[in-house]
Amino acid sequence: MVSLLMTFLTLSSFTIFILFFLKHKLYCTCDVCHSYLTSNWSTQYNNLCDWYTHLLQNSPSQTIHIHVLANTITANPKNVEHILKTNFHNYPKGKQFSMILGDLLGNGIFNVDGDAWMFQKKMASLELGSVSNAFDNVKFHVESRLLPLLSSVARGKDGGLIDLQCVFRQFSFEYICRFSFSLDLNSLELPFTVSQLSDSFDLATTLSAKRAMSTSPVVWKAYRRLNLGSERKLKEAIQNVNILVEKVIENKKKLGFTKNQDLLSRFMEVSDDRSFLRDVMVNFILAGRDTVASALTSFFWLIMNHPEVESRIRIEMDRTKNRKQDQLATFEEMKELHYLQAAIHESMRLYPPIQFDSKFAAENDALPDGTRVKKGTKVTFHPYAMGRMETIWGKDCKKFKPERWLKNGVFKHENPFKYPVFQAGFRVCLGKEMALMEMKSVVLGILTRFKLRLVKPDGELRFEPALTATVKNGLPIIVGERRVASH
Ligand code: HEM
Repeated sequence: MVSLLMTFLTLSSFTIFILFFLKHKLYCTCDVCHSYLTSNWSTQYNNLCDWYTHLLQNSPSQTIHIHVLANTITANPKNVEHILKTNFHNYPKGKQFSMILGDLLGNGIFNVDGDAWMFQKKMASLELGSVSNAFDNVKFHVESRLLPLLSSVARGKDGGLIDLQCVFRQFSFEYICRFSFSLDLNSLELPFTVSQLSDSFDLATTLSAKRAMSTSPVVWKAYRRLNLGSERKLKEAIQNVNILVEKVIENKKKLGFTKNQDLLSRFMEVSDDRSFLRDVMVNFILAGRDTVASALTSFFWLIMNHPEVESRIRIEMDRTKNRKQDQLATFEEMKELHYLQAAIHESMRLYPPIQFDSKFAAENDALPDGTRVKKGTKVTFHPYAMGRMETIWGKDCKKFKPERWLKNGVFKHENPFKYPVFQAGFRVCLGKEMALMEMKSVVLGILTRFKLRLVKPDGELRFEPALTATVKNGLPIIVGERRVASH
């Protein structure tokens, strides 16, 4: 009887799967879909985003459609403006997105639309509005955490060998926890180390991103229900993240907090809902940790490959007034560093921390380039490909050239719909100014005190699937101390 029932259940699940498969066109024989389904693209391209870039560069409208993913992908700035601003209400994050990332992000700002989004945006803007206040925290973390760590590596037994991506992840993790929750990560009593916790975050984001790449949610949902494979690992990683978050909320309640002390306090003032506070925290850690670490990793990879850019940054750095050589520039002095600002923007043009971003069409629509969009279609814009379009950046678009951002030596902004690295329109990044200040502080701190060298000088960056660009196998470098002239 039991075996009969099992056979019946198996057959009916199979039938449901086939019907779902046919209904959602999960199979298509066109060249692009075939290449996607068989991963054939990987014989010619290191990264999926390079293959998409190639397809977008060759599309007359700079827009393509991947049938098996029901995904329209565009690198056309007019379309981007339409999606993010002109017809913003037709392109919410949508249910599919929140389902894929729901276990990790819950109802946090990255995963919600409508009133829930608007409320969190307002609260976060209050905290992220003034960057000058955040400067002291950044300075503290650079001077008392990051630089001493690199010094000890430079003098250590491994001859200065270290994974720079890993260093930046730990740095930005510690900093965002200090900024958002007034928390010194190292002071918490946790059943694991900070670097294990960092690994749990990495795993949770990587496995969540893998869900998004599958042609159908049926498979990961079944694994999730049965608590198997990658879904089991995802659950465990999220549990570790939750332990940290619970501990922080508990500590804050115990020690008491003042109204505007930090971002978490602001939210705790208005809500006692643990699950909501958990979601707020996880979203902010993600916003501030991986993006900045990713941007710094590719920035240093680029300048190690372009010593002429590094020298220009140094010349500008040495010109800043009133600065002792072994100290960070002040917040005001930093504003004068136009070349550095240009180099940072240029590195994110080529290597945006968020390589692509998707929305779901609420109703049928047509994009400005004439592409028809059916209700329910996933619509993606692709900053990584956009940074490599001749139509946007000219013939030298593949060149790392900070000068393209300067006019008479002064940094000039670009149209954000051509450069949606921080997104644009209504959901533009709220932490942009803070991220830029954080990056500049790190660059100045490191270049003043250290010489960095790539372990593998040749080659390209290879990325692994993740929510933010993550260099596969990290970025091994050799760090050495620079002799600083005393004043
Ligand atoms: C180089 C670093 C950064 C980059 C490239 C970046 C990029 C982005 C992008 C592309 C989005 C839109 C995401 C989406 O809606 O799908 C976003 C949103 C956001 N970012 Fe950033 N970000 C960076 C750093 C930060 C930092 C340090 C914070 C501060 C905690 C932050 C806070 C936020 C918040 C709160 C949002 C949500 C805005 C909204 O939905 O209204 N970001 N960021």
